[in-house]
Amino acid sequence: MMARFLVKMWRVCRNPGLAIDYLYFLTRGIRIRGLRDERDTLRGTLDALAALAAPLPVVPLDEMYPETASSRELGELFAQYGSDKASKHNYHLLYSSVLEARRAEPLQILEIGLGTNDISRVSHMGAEGKPGASVRAFRDWAPLAQVRGADIDESILFREERIETFFVDQTDPQSLESLAAQFSHRGFDLIIDDGLHNPWANLNTLRALLPLRKPGGAYVIEDILERDRPVFGILRALLPPEMIPQMFQSRSGEYCLVVQEALEPSGG
Ligand SMILES: C[S@@+](CC[C@H](N)C(=O)[O-])C[C@H]1O[C@@H](n2cnc3c(N)ncnc32)[C@H](O)[C@@H]1O
Repeated sequence: MMARFLVKMWRVCRNPGLAIDYLYFLTRGIRIRGLRDERDTLRGTLDALAALAAPLPVVPLDEMYPETASSRELGELFAQYGSDKASKHNYHLLYSSVLEARRAEPLQILEIGLGTNDISRVSHMGAEGKPGASVRAFRDWAPLAQVRGADIDESILFREERIETFFVDQTDPQSLESLAAQFSHRGFDLIIDDGLHNPWANLNTLRALLPLRKPGGAYVIEDILERDRPVFGILRALLPPEMIPQMFQSRSGEYCLVVQEALEPSGG
């Protein structure tokens, strides 16, 4: 027994990677190698699904939604509160166009990802980031809107006029279910996933939150990277036929996916 332990220690000391793995196992009970295997399997599965699905056609956002006075106003509010939705991307064009006709109504908006400034967290907004920037911009732009936000960083949750925020972990289906259960009596005009920015977290979140969308409302996944874009082609096969996924490219070169009903053909 002792000899086996000493041999193990000798092997561990000769290999720093193994040492870290072993220490992590002793303290957390998790094998890093196992985590790596899991990550590689997941990546391989996503790549295989992406190869099977035809990619969604891409349209530049500003071709689809030219700037208007109203979108400029929303863009200025994003900049004023410290969100990069208009400065880095041009998502203000999309959001003002999607909501414009109902701007003066009591819109219901839900956004995952409040913008933590804790730089030890994934998808943070930098130490100078302003948590709550985008939900405040939406609240000011639409005078009767109720805006809900959710984030994994509990220290940035807050409540103020027409804004309520909640804890959620997009990697945990149960956490998403608990969040969804709090809203089941309402429908959202707009649901935004601007959280972890990882395709499996995106799909987890879509599965849990898409049913909360009002008929005619939009579900948006922001900041999709080029390497992840192909996998979203599978949504054409997974979503109900009346729900149409559309891929747009923002000014930054990243993509956003919009899921909405097919628009009724106008006229006749
Ligand atoms: C890019 S920031 C959101 C920026 C904000 N929407 C804005 O425009 O100002 C991404 C946020 O996602 C949160 N996040 C990271 N991982 C998450 C997870 N697993 N579940 C929920 N939120 C997560 C981070 O804490 C961070 O606040």
